[in-house]
Amino acid sequence: MLYPWLKVGHLVFVIFWMAGLFMMPRFFVYHQEAPEGSEEAARWVEREARLRKIILNPSMILVWVFGLALAFTIDAWSQGWFHLKLFFVLGLSGYHGWMMAYAKKLARGERPLSGKKLRLLNEVPGIAAILIVTTVIVGRLYLS
Ligand code: HEM
Repeated sequence: MLYPWLKVGHLVFVIFWMAGLFMMPRFFVYHQEAPEGSEEAARWVEREARLRKIILNPSMILVWVFGLALAFTIDAWSQGWFHLKLFFVLGLSGYHGWMMAYAKKLARGERPLSGKKLRLLNEVPGIAAILIVTTVIVGRLYLS
């Protein structure tokens, strides 16, 4: 009976996490368009901090907690599709970590990347979502 609820928790927080991952690099682009040291830049620092603390970090932790609970429930550890999924979700978690670090750099007044590079990096969560969902649904049919 617990299993469907774990899946509900997992998927709800996947949606929140992905929403945050899509929003944050957009915030970075707008932030970098504001003049350095301006009031607008300070407002973006505040918005980024809130997105980090309220959405991104809690959602990522809960996706992992529910996902690992599901993995133990169905004993996914020996299954090929799960190894591939872990590879992709570890990559996505690394991207999350990079974003947290970049938000802190922006808050200190550093702007290491151009708007163009940030726009390109904005594609990472979309590509990761395609790879992960394909692995979970199609990969599972072939990699048991
Ligand atoms: C962060 C670590 C994650 C872990 C450890 C994890 C693990 C799992 C496990 C074990 C299942 C159960 C499969 C089943 O019972 O059929 C599952 C389901 C699922 N996961 Fe994840 N997951 C993670 C992240 C993600 C992410 C980031 C996404 C999407 C971008 C995602 C999408 C899904 C989907 C769509 C299902 C439902 C599959 C189905 O019902 O057939 N997961 N996950």
